[in-house]
Amino acid sequence: MGTGYAVNRVGILTSGGDAPGMNAAIRGAVRTLQCLGIDCIGIKHGYQGLIRGDFLPLDERVVKGITGRGGTMLYTARSQEFMTDEGRQRAADTCRYSGLDGLIVIGGDGSFRGARELSKHGVNVVGIPCTIDNDIGCTSYTIGFDTACNTAVEAVDRLNDTMQSHERCSVVEVMGRGAGHLALSVGIATGATIIIVPEVHYDFEKDVFERIRRARLGGRNNFTVIVAEGTEPAHKIATTIQDEIGIDTRLTALGHIQRGGAPQIRDRVTATCMGYRAVMLLAEGKGSRIVAMQGDEYVDYDVDVALEMTKEFDFETYRSFSALTFLDKDFFVNL
Ligand code: F6P
Repeated sequence: MGTGYAVNRVGILTSGGDAPGMNAAIRGAVRTLQCLGIDCIGIKHGYQGLIRGDFLPLDERVVKGITGRGGTMLYTARSQEFMTDEGRQRAADTCRYSGLDGLIVIGGDGSFRGARELSKHGVNVVGIPCTIDNDIGCTSYTIGFDTACNTAVEAVDRLNDTMQSHERCSVVEVMGRGAGHLALSVGIATGATIIIVPEVHYDFEKDVFERIRRARLGGRNNFTVIVAEGTEPAHKIATTIQDEIGIDTRLTALGHIQRGGAPQIRDRVTATCMGYRAVMLLAEGKGSRIVAMQGDEYVDYDVDVALEMTKEFDFETYRSFSALTFLDKDFFVNL
């Protein structure tokens, strides 16, 4: 018997790197589907699980209490097989044979490119942006970013304590997959001396040594350099500071610590609302969409349009940070 909505059975999968808030998005979608009387199937291990039919029926009991849990209860993967035409055909066939007439994909832009391919095979797909990198063009915010920032800030605060005791320089590498959004927020929130991001060219003499010298003249005896992965290797930066300035320097790569942990409130709320919205789009018969945020507003875009959109690095905020740490009126003149 039909539900009266455009879909009768919807699958949900998480794909790519996990991010805190994925579980909250799953729960938001599942509970909305249940309210509408639409069948809900969890697909384990991302697109790979879709190819294999690795299913887990979902209802409100299965998703009970997961809003505050990190990771993803559906597991995630980066599927090589799904990169091939045959793999995608098989995934689309699984949807057809199992009566899945809608699919929610929770992940980053790689996952959305997969969603676009599935749409071409006739599957109604809606994407939910979820990555700690906050680097998806169509949305001002991606689920997981706030939690990852908070985790990194807590770690850098701890590092700052010991760096202060030993009068050392701390070089901290944060994640970002070629984008500096996480590094910028973490650097500002921890009062870093220097933030190095792939979007802004930096010069060792002017942007690193000179800043450390000025900070020293201003009375500082410990320094923090936040480096986004995807710029110069952080160990090289640490070695150069130690060798050229003679400051005892320690390197910390925060790594996957940033991807774990209980989601912060912003991620719980955004994920729940996006889960709801993804279901409503499918119920209204709108496929090939990506749910997004612009400012405080939830919006959605056609997947082709979404994948064409690019996100600007926040140069304005970066300039404010630079001005504050350089402490030179000429800097303001040259802005
Ligand atoms: O995209 C999220 C992210 O955590 C990036 O910041 C990082 O470069 C990458 O994933 C690491 O991926 P993996 O899970 O393969 O180690």
